[in-house]
Amino acid sequence: MSNNVTNKIAKFTRENRDTKLTFFQGFLRRPQTVGSVIPSSKFLVRRILKLADIRENDTVVELGPGTGGTTHALLNKLGPTGRLLGIEVEWKFVELLQQIDDARLIPHHGSAEDISNILKDHGLGKPDVVISGIPFSTMPAEAGQKIVRAIFSVLPPGKSFVAYQLRDRVAELAAPVFGKPEVSLELINIPPMRVYKWSVKDKPDLVRETA
Ligand SMILES: C[S@@+](CC[C@H](N)C(=O)[O-])C[C@H]1O[C@@H](n2cnc3c(N)ncnc32)[C@H](O)[C@@H]1O
Repeated sequence: MSNNVTNKIAKFTRENRDTKLTFFQGFLRRPQTVGSVIPSSKFLVRRILKLADIRENDTVVELGPGTGGTTHALLNKLGPTGRLLGIEVEWKFVELLQQIDDARLIPHHGSAEDISNILKDHGLGKPDVVISGIPFSTMPAEAGQKIVRAIFSVLPPGKSFVAYQLRDRVAELAAPVFGKPEVSLELINIPPMRVYKWSVKDKPDLVRETA
């Protein structure tokens, strides 16, 4: 093996290890917010992408990109005119996302519940897909309801919300506005995760008024 290839493998291994360490440190700082000890596996990421069904010029919002593993995979799916807004509450993770050299990515330090204003601040229209890894099961029910309603308020009919979660709390929170999801289980991940998908059909008056 040439020195060049060996150096590239060593660099990749080092970066991968550093990313996992940064993620774990984030978990130690805010376990309930980060929700997992390591980033999502490539198997889970593949499953998320399959359900999200991203098209080349989509506007995608990622809630809780973490250290960016899912973010890189989403960027690989998007074409040159696609946009990816990553809303992340943990500043250390935002710093990592800002190092991704890709003009299609907008890393934003903030919280998912402000999705509507954040989209406006960046001059983005309505998204095609919202993908969320934020742990709904460890947050107060009111906070979870607020986020689910905020997501629903920005998604036009025909567009989708995909969430990967350890527990099914998100399905309970989302049911009043989104209805029943399509559910899929990924076992090759620590911990195993359910992936939920809702496609917006119509918008009940109740939500339209509060959005
Ligand atoms: C389970 S991790 C997922 C990280 C990454 N997407 C992955 O799959 O490896 C959940 C992420 O959601 C972020 N998060 C939690 N609550 C949030 C909120 N209200 N708004 C935005 N991000 C949030 C956490 O900081 C963490 O990065």
